[in-house]
Amino acid sequence: MRPAKTISFIALLFVFLQSISAQSTSCGTIVINADQGRDTISRHIYGHFSEHLGRCIYGGFYVGEDNKVIPNKNGVRTDVIEALRELKIPNLRWPGGCFADTYHWKDGIGPKPERPTIVNTWWGGVTEDNSFGTHEFLNMCELLEAEPYLSANVGSGTVQELADWIQYVNHEGISPMANLRKENGREKPWQVKFWGVGNEAWGCGGNMTAEYYANIYRQYATFMSDWTNSSGMYRIASGASSNDYNWTEVLMRDIPNRMVDALALHHYSVIDWNKKGSASQFDEQQYFTIMKRALNMDELIQRHSTIMDKYDPEKKIALVVDEWGGWYDVEPGTNPGFLYQQNTMRDAMIAATTLNIFNNHCDRVRMANLAQTINVLQAVILTNEEKMLLTPTYHVMKMYNVHQDALLLPVSLVNCDYRSGEQTLPALSVSASKDNGGVVHISIANIDSKETRTVSVELRGMPVTAAEGQILRSGSVQDHNTFDQPDKVKPSEFRQFKRSGNTIELDLPPFSVVVLAVKS
Ligand code: AHR
Repeated sequence: MRPAKTISFIALLFVFLQSISAQSTSCGTIVINADQGRDTISRHIYGHFSEHLGRCIYGGFYVGEDNKVIPNKNGVRTDVIEALRELKIPNLRWPGGCFADTYHWKDGIGPKPERPTIVNTWWGGVTEDNSFGTHEFLNMCELLEAEPYLSANVGSGTVQELADWIQYVNHEGISPMANLRKENGREKPWQVKFWGVGNEAWGCGGNMTAEYYANIYRQYATFMSDWTNSSGMYRIASGASSNDYNWTEVLMRDIPNRMVDALALHHYSVIDWNKKGSASQFDEQQYFTIMKRALNMDELIQRHSTIMDKYDPEKKIALVVDEWGGWYDVEPGTNPGFLYQQNTMRDAMIAATTLNIFNNHCDRVRMANLAQTINVLQAVILTNEEKMLLTPTYHVMKMYNVHQDALLLPVSLVNCDYRSGEQTLPALSVSASKDNGGVVHISIANIDSKETRTVSVELRGMPVTAAEGQILRSGSVQDHNTFDQPDKVKPSEFRQFKRSGNTIELDLPPFSVVVLAVKS
């Protein structure tokens, strides 16, 4: 046999052996109390993040107003606008990330030829020409029908700079900054609500101690005024990295509750910061480790919330997970500073389990931002010149958008184990909600790489007359979409279920995600 034929024969044999070795195990019953909802899942949990990093902004969102090859509206790719509107993107964080603490917003306004260039010191040392600035971003958010979330420069900026930015984008009347905005072609303010006060202040945002940042935060927040409060300004403090509980403790202790609306939290699923591994070629152990890191989000939220409960028992202050996702080595041959990585069914599993965790903690988690939207880290969209593809993560976020602004329903299940050698993880991840029309949506992920799970879903507190669903699955957990095969991984109608009265019995294939819609 010639080498190419030998390789495809081995690949086919592997898929065949995988399919005959797939076993089905019963995973018991998931009980959903359809009449017992209390908290609303904020749509802002389904937010995204766009940094001046690699090809996220330039080439990803923005191709320039004069581009005649790639269809665009005011320089923003129309394929991207359509895809993100389909996703119901609720908010978009910008301009960073680490970049935010090097960014001086006045460099990005006014006639483009007159805008100064800077060096993007965090990401590849490339020249940033500032052609995408405040107007371009906020107008793009209008096209996307998403709320902007501006991340302000605390690390190398000034209090005055931030106060001026707020006045520039939000002030209705006559003022130096509002007048400048009008001179630059925008009459009406954009009314930006979400403001981040620095980013990763413990690291790239200034390597500050928690105590030092808490004081700086108080100073910045004092001058963040919104004269009419028509934007309902929402101030988000730079929060902890993963399990840095001391950071949350100090911020909650030292910042008066009235001065802050949310604390951020960043958590990436990474195997080892020094040895991250390939995004698309990984083994069972690497898959298991990434899933363990992703599921750890539940404990992180619980523990940070417990600290917040001490100082804010009424949960007025939210936890905003404004950076999350899988982080691997960059694709071979690409700029290491651009963080461009592929996106497989493993990432679909990260997305499905993480979004279930956020939904289930929606009493405290009221916003989150996947890192990052296009061409960077766990992206929902990849682009290559005029080509664009939707990743498995995109499909999960779209299937899950039925939970946006819906009522969280209490769920109970006795989980079963996903075993890998001596280690175990819970195989299933579930959340459920009821929308305005009374439809119950149930999202279930089976993260087990080998076994199909049979599970019964019992709905209590509502009669069930109909059910339908969608499934995202694929033959191998390494499967992903490419520019040659953009639809290799995509959702399809879910048929492997039987309904009898209020009980639905379903088969969940290995590493699959199902979202059911159940009607009364
Ligand atoms: O998302 C990439 C980087 O990760 C961000 O710039 C930074 O905030 C984090 O460390």
